[in-house]
Amino acid sequence: MLAATIVAPVGVTKADQSSPPFAAVARLVQQTSLPFLCVEASRGVCFDRQGSELPPFLPERILSQLLGLSEPATIDDVDGLIAYAVPLPSHGGRFIAYGYQLAAGAPLPAELRHAAKEAGWSDARLQAWATDQPRCTAEPLAALLRFAASDIAGDAAVAESQILELSEQLDRTYEEISLLHSLSHNLQISTSPAELVALCLDRLPGLIDAESHLVQLRPPGESSRIWSNGDLPFSIADANQLLIRLDAQESSRPIVRNFIAGSPLAAKYPRLRNFVAVPVREGRHRFGWIISTNLSGGREFGTIEASFLNTIATILGTHVRNIDLLHEQNDLLVGFVRSFVSTLDAKDPYTRGHSERVALIARRIGEQMRLPDEYIEAIYLSGLLHDVGKIGVDDQILRKNGPLTDEEFAQVKKHPVIGYNILSSLKNLRHVLPGVRNHHESFDGTGYPDGLAGDDIPLLARVLAVADAYDAMSSDRPYRKGMPSEKIDEVFRRGRNRQWDGEVLDGYFDCRDDILMICAAYSFENRRAFGDGI
Ligand SMILES: [Fe+2]
Repeated sequence: MLAATIVAPVGVTKADQSSPPFAAVARLVQQTSLPFLCVEASRGVCFDRQGSELPPFLPERILSQLLGLSEPATIDDVDGLIAYAVPLPSHGGRFIAYGYQLAAGAPLPAELRHAAKEAGWSDARLQAWATDQPRCTAEPLAALLRFAASDIAGDAAVAESQILELSEQLDRTYEEISLLHSLSHNLQISTSPAELVALCLDRLPGLIDAESHLVQLRPPGESSRIWSNGDLPFSIADANQLLIRLDAQESSRPIVRNFIAGSPLAAKYPRLRNFVAVPVREGRHRFGWIISTNLSGGREFGTIEASFLNTIATILGTHVRNIDLLHEQNDLLVGFVRSFVSTLDAKDPYTRGHSERVALIARRIGEQMRLPDEYIEAIYLSGLLHDVGKIGVDDQILRKNGPLTDEEFAQVKKHPVIGYNILSSLKNLRHVLPGVRNHHESFDGTGYPDGLAGDDIPLLARVLAVADAYDAMSSDRPYRKGMPSEKIDEVFRRGRNRQWDGEVLDGYFDCRDDILMICAAYSFENRRAFGDGI
């Protein structure tokens, strides 16, 4: 008697039908014209393919022989069944296509009748199946199975290589997206193009398997720079000549050259086999090139490499253009502020140029203190505007040649707050406000308008305070000559950490000679511009 492990047909969806291992089973059915069930051998579970023309019947004795099966096999069963099975390479070999026939003249086993009934087969259907099925011997059956199995294995190998290729493609796509994400993440205006180029050159070798990558950038108003990694097939001087050739091309599309040997380029660049070059550009503006040379493994560059480099080049180009636009905007703003302030200063011939000199001196001190570039720009602009509030102070008081009365001095002391109020509604100048408002604070807290002390005084204002005092002391006035440099130094030493921040004064002393030159050059330019004897 056969002990049977029968599993009734399980719910099989259409999606399951189209996916392995059912696809492989269906192919076996097509090639052999034999009915097959699908068995997950390790669990003894027998899945019925939808439409299978076989009662789902799997005796345990046969199941035990299916376990560990590594190639197609037929199994002659003592109870009149001839089972046949083909291990399926898909799904890690867990599944086996399995079927059976009645041996010639053998009666239907009782367990098979029972299994068919459990599976919903009517007696008539079962009888028809038993009558209609082909009766063949094990030997030709085994040959048929081997032939069909080799075809299935071939399909599996193809599928496996397709999966591998897809997986590599996904890996590459992930890396590409990751690099593009890093680039976009670093597109703040404070990130220099050089930093973005370094990021690209760090990651490009993992994405394009070329022997070298080169980036050339020439932002407007700056000289050209070249970065590279890997084994460049030419010197930087030769690279420059190649870039000049590329620049001569009017097209803004990627340039792919796969067969350099035998072309005119070969004589000049004998180690160059192939390259892809894309312009770094934004709109009509071209800012340089990205080039990958000599794709590894003797392969040719194609649209994948070209389009990826093109995306990177577009990001770089946009960034360079944005920085350029920002510089243009800053230049415009500074130009406007300079002309506005010089008009104000010109009202008083004795303080003419004061604001611009304070701006220049403060900027030089800021550089000496190694403050960040953007802060130094703010210092310069704040220097230009620090006394703009004097527009609200009576001219008579400002031009008075003698000592001021208390009331007049109270009027003058209002100019930092007046300037602050004038500028505070201008969004583009908000960063210079601390210098305008607090440049008359004293380090010991005795200054005005807010009576701030020490580090509570914004650094911008502490730098301006030194520059402002220097220009006031060194400039001639109607009632006195400007102080000599030694005298100014003495005043500053006495006021160290009392009126002025000692660290800012250290910066001043370290670049005092430059400050003297700045003031001398300014005075020369100014006198020439106003026709004062030159
Ligand atoms: Fe002032």
